[in-house]
Amino acid sequence: MARTSNPARFVSADFTFTFGDALPQQTNPQVIPRPIKPVTDWDVQQWNGILRGHALSARTYELLPTNVPVAKLHCGSCHLNNGGNPTAAWWVGMLKEYNYPTTSGLPDRINQCFERSMNGVPLPNDPANPEMTAFILYMQWLDEQAQLLKIPTPKNPYPPISSLTGDASLGEAIFGQKCAFCHGADGQGRYESDTYYRPALWGPHSFNGQAGMATSPKLPSFVRANMPFHSGGELTDQEAWNLAAFILSKPRPPGKVTR
Ligand code: HEC
Ligand code: HEC
Repeated sequence: MARTSNPARFVSADFTFTFGDALPQQTNPQVIPRPIKPVTDWDVQQWNGILRGHALSARTYELLPTNVPVAKLHCGSCHLNNGGNPTAAWWVGMLKEYNYPTTSGLPDRINQCFERSMNGVPLPNDPANPEMTAFILYMQWLDEQAQLLKIPTPKNPYPPISSLTGDASLGEAIFGQKCAFCHGADGQGRYESDTYYRPALWGPHSFNGQAGMATSPKLPSFVRANMPFHSGGELTDQEAWNLAAFILSKPRPPGKVTR
């Protein structure tokens, strides 16, 4: 534990996660690495679309400013490793889950995240829309990887957490110690030189009040399993609930009123 010279800003900080940052990325065999080269014949045929789907997930607001005009988030801000991380609502099994292409369930679900999680505008409701097609191709590629790498499919989008009540003021103290270092004491993330570095947790650049992340137990489960970044699983269930209560006590865009 270390103290800063400005106790009004950060009380103290646990720096163990910086060692996590120093590790080579993606040493976790359960996480699907990003697409690097095509392996199967199907990969070869679809490679450009798969890469495009990955890029749209990894740089969403930069590449799709019409659809994400205000938030400064990527799909991968919450779907860690761009949908390849089984502890962060990964995208393996989505085509089957949403009966694609028999129903429009999957494009509809993706558009829900555009409207709520990204506080933005849905992609056009057109089966041939190139962005939607790329997202779904990339999700299909993730299915193929999970099979090739023999990664078992988890039952829940997040590992389960016990049902507790959060205390926002206790959450604020933990936030100052374990989260402010990256997300900012004001929760506005870090975007120096107009570059995404750490995402906003509340305020104008964050998800809106209708997003899944704005509800419990989704937010505490995500935090418990994945934060501090690269040190998921180190908070207690109660700490995660306190943090969620604190984060959700802060202002954020309300979302579409008529729905
Ligand atoms: C602010 C966080 C956040 C962002 C950003 C976000 N999502 Fe989500 N997404 C969620 C949450 C939370 C869920 C619900 C998980 C659950 O079922 O518990 C979800 C669910 C989904 C699902 C369904 C998962 C399932 O298991 O049924 C898909 C598909 C999806 N999101 C795609 C996207 C895409 C594509 C983007 C980018 C355009 C995106 N999301 C951006 C938080 C986010
Ligand atoms: C070492 C830096 C770091 C620390 C410390 C950290 N985070 Fe994060 N957090 C990130 C990064 C980076 C992402 C997005 C991942 C990506 O884009 O690949 C993220 C994403 C998130 C998200 C989902 C995206 C969003 O903007 O809403 C939440 C919620 C979150 N963190 C909460 C927390 C909480 C609570 C703590 C303290 C327990 C914490 N984080 C500590 C780096 C950090």
